[in-house]
Amino acid sequence: MQAQKISNTQTIPYAKASMAMDLGEISGDLAGIRMLGFREGHQYQHLVPYPEQAHAPVLEFVQEFATWFSVPEEQGFFIVGPSGVGKTTGVLHLLAEANVPTLKVGCHRDMTLLELIGNSQLKEKNGASVSEFVYGPLAQAFKYGFTIVLEEMNLMFPDVLAGINEIVRGQTLLVEQTGEVIRRHPAFRIIAAGNSFGNGDAGSGKMHGAKAQNAAFLNRWWKFSMGFLDVQQEYNILKDKTQKVPPEILRGIINVAESIRDRSIYRNPGDQNALDLEFGTRTTITWAQTIDRFARAGMGGSIKRALHATMLRAEPVEIQELLDQLCTNEFGADY
Ligand SMILES: Nc1ncnc2c1ncn2[C@@H]1O[C@H](COP(=O)(O)OP(=O)(O)OP(=O)(O)O)[C@@H](O)[C@H]1O
Ligand SMILES: [Mg+2]
Repeated sequence: MQAQKISNTQTIPYAKASMAMDLGEISGDLAGIRMLGFREGHQYQHLVPYPEQAHAPVLEFVQEFATWFSVPEEQGFFIVGPSGVGKTTGVLHLLAEANVPTLKVGCHRDMTLLELIGNSQLKEKNGASVSEFVYGPLAQAFKYGFTIVLEEMNLMFPDVLAGINEIVRGQTLLVEQTGEVIRRHPAFRIIAAGNSFGNGDAGSGKMHGAKAQNAAFLNRWWKFSMGFLDVQQEYNILKDKTQKVPPEILRGIINVAESIRDRSIYRNPGDQNALDLEFGTRTTITWAQTIDRFARAGMGGSIKRALHATMLRAEPVEIQELLDQLCTNEFGADY
């Protein structure tokens, strides 16, 4: 495949059958914001993520992401925020809108640069085992012009991150095992998501096992801090994802979640007494959907049991008591 020149000046909407990129308009509520994207029908269509059906756009995020994506210069995009607030959803939804071939990788503590760039693997050929080099996701993205999304990037060790940093800004990538020098495809983009910038930052207040990172590392990234969703948007998502849960219960779920968030480290960074409890949109959706499943099965006692099944059984007694109190205030004693 030949590298295509990216044009930052065209305003043609996505056209057919080409890997070329053009500026296109994002649809729906965000009409008017433009983002570089791929024309329909390219050969990596199978790598384009699916859009989120109930997507609630976060305006500042969309503006910054679209701006970075269209003209990334020598930066990656690093998004942090509490667990389950929609970092991955927001990123993948926009990549879907812009028809971008995407590779999503879950990072872990033992990850090496080799795992990302590639490895020799033994393959069976004509009855004999032969060693063959297989590109890892980072080398594939760099070579073919995909976007790579590194989830939980800050779990990785500094030397791996230093290697990634070279790739973020480099024009070439050396594959040490084979000696191949890969040229950077102009459409290559790199995105990282995590709970913290790893800098003792106010971005999230939470380190979550994240490794400390230095300023030289963070310099290479457009930094975005995502907070909890707007409550009306969150309500609309819950409404969209349930069938039989009355609106007042959906509102109650969000009120309880907001009470927890108000006490959390995310809204009280530096406060030693603040709660470290995951209560993002993922939790409210699961709680609402579990109530919905009880209702569809014709069973009662569902708000409490659904909350226990969603998260509470795994929490310490103090948290169980706090939530019991908040739910009693919200829904009444026999919720
Ligand atoms: N803006 C949004 N529009 C629609 N749904 C959303 C939005 N944000 C979050 N969700 C829903 O919440 C769930 C959790 O979001 P997501 O997985 O993107 O969170 P995250 O911030 O990446 O979490 P983690 O820190 O665990 O990686 C998603 O499955 C999605 O259904
Ligand atoms: Mg995520």
